[in-house]
Amino acid sequence: ESADHFPAVVIGSGYGGAVAALRLGEAGIRTLVLEMGRLWDAPGPDGRVYCSMTAPDQRSMWFKRRTEAPLSTFLWLDVINKDITPYPGVLDRVSYPGMSVYVGRGVGGGSLVNGGIAVTPPRSYFQQMLPQVAADPMYDTYFPLANRMLGAATVPSAWFESTEWYTYARVARAQAAKAGLKTVFVPNVYDFDYMRREADGTATKSALAQEVIYGNNFGKRSLDKTYIAAALGTGQVTLQTLSRVRALRRAPDGTYVLTVDRVDTTGAVVATDEITCRSLFLGAGSLGTTELLLRARETGALPELSAEVGRGWGGNGNVMLGRANHVWNPTGAHQSTIPVMAIDDWSNATNPVFAEIAPLPAGLETWVSLYLAITRNPERATFTYDAAKDTAVLNWTRAQSAPSVAAAKALFDRVNSANVTIYRYDLFGDTRAFADDFCYHPLGGCVLGRATDAYGRVTGYDGLYVTDGSLIPGSIGVNPFVTITALAERTMARVLAEDPVGRR
Ligand code: FDA
Repeated sequence: ESADHFPAVVIGSGYGGAVAALRLGEAGIRTLVLEMGRLWDAPGPDGRVYCSMTAPDQRSMWFKRRTEAPLSTFLWLDVINKDITPYPGVLDRVSYPGMSVYVGRGVGGGSLVNGGIAVTPPRSYFQQMLPQVAADPMYDTYFPLANRMLGAATVPSAWFESTEWYTYARVARAQAAKAGLKTVFVPNVYDFDYMRREADGTATKSALAQEVIYGNNFGKRSLDKTYIAAALGTGQVTLQTLSRVRALRRAPDGTYVLTVDRVDTTGAVVATDEITCRSLFLGAGSLGTTELLLRARETGALPELSAEVGRGWGGNGNVMLGRANHVWNPTGAHQSTIPVMAIDDWSNATNPVFAEIAPLPAGLETWVSLYLAITRNPERATFTYDAAKDTAVLNWTRAQSAPSVAAAKALFDRVNSANVTIYRYDLFGDTRAFADDFCYHPLGGCVLGRATDAYGRVTGYDGLYVTDGSLIPGSIGVNPFVTITALAERTMARVLAEDPVGRR
């Protein structure tokens, strides 16, 4: 066998890719993981692996000339974003005409930049969205397994109640209660023992030093510290970074052939390789996996792919908003970047909303309560292939965000009226109160049971699997990575038991 052949290849190293890599490695299957981003392990000139949110440098974003933070202005001032040198930074914002999508880039994918919130969805909504998946094994086996592997835990409540770092969450809780709304603690993968030591001054601050969307230098159990470390520990898994898979095809003997561009830190393609494998696992995320399959279908490389490839995309009904509090209700100059509480009104039959109480870690008092609302938006969009640019385009229109905004507004109008407060109109670049033009939770494009069988086996092609967020049909009602991880565990258990993986 040639040096460029592997029994199994995994594309992408986020949740879906990391689970696949570990379980393949444990099964003794020699596996190559291809990741377009870099490995975030070496400190920069400042001695830190990641840059901070308040002084972003080239490490912050994926080949941009200026940062594109979700909160773009403060008091309408362009004080947040900074000019940077293009570099394979950790956070990307992929912009389509009606929607921008934030994604992580690097070994660990979204786990490097996300808030670490680890929520298991309500069983009834999970069943509604994924009726072809038996709920008992999910709730008895795969969700507990995913939570254990990811290191999900809840903030110790006594510390939460007493620390200045969660004043913002306690204020938002009290205001929700005034409106008759329930709040819940949400588990997180951040190490709360570490956070307490940050607060005590005995550990280097990370969550308490405004670090999150451009990476946490300490404290967060991102995938490189959990699944991927374990995958490498099997001795069967090789990582190749700064390697972007551009095309897939199948040789007459059924081998998959990948065209892989290797880039340097300026973005220049330094080599284009062909890598072959018997079994191929797609974990490039909703955008990445959908683009690879759509391109393969539309260019005729994998013509048997289903017409369902590219369909069923949604942003989990994401809307971000801020409320302005009274001067006697400060939210704190000191805010942990790690969210631990949410307003849970998902059981509301007419207007279900699950709203994460988010920090605004500005380092000074802002009197802002910030939220990321997850709403039940029924709209779905389709990706089409732009042959001239060789890319997938997401055809989400701004009008399709209207149900998300209406749902968030219905809930937060209640909070405002009970507390005699108003929205903030200065945070999202113009005078909008609701940021409906970006999302953190891209889901769908290769939906389970439609573009694949009920286990992520891609229709039309043996030995081709999807394990990431593109399987979930646009909405899951909570922050999605626990569901992505649990579904990937379920797929790998089934596929390794039934299919001739690596030897097909
Ligand atoms: P994911 O996007 O994680 O990984 C895909 C990987 O594939 C990436 O590393 C990418 O670089 C790589 N890739 C893509 N195309 C490729 C190609 N052609 N070749 C090679 N590599 C390629 N969720 C949650 O549950 N709780 C939370 O608190 C948050 N918070 C949050 C904050 C922010 C700022 C963001 C951006 C996102 C969140 N999320 C979240 C969402 C969560 O991070 C997201 O749902 C998962 O990371 C998706 O996992 P996947 O495995 O689908 O792909």
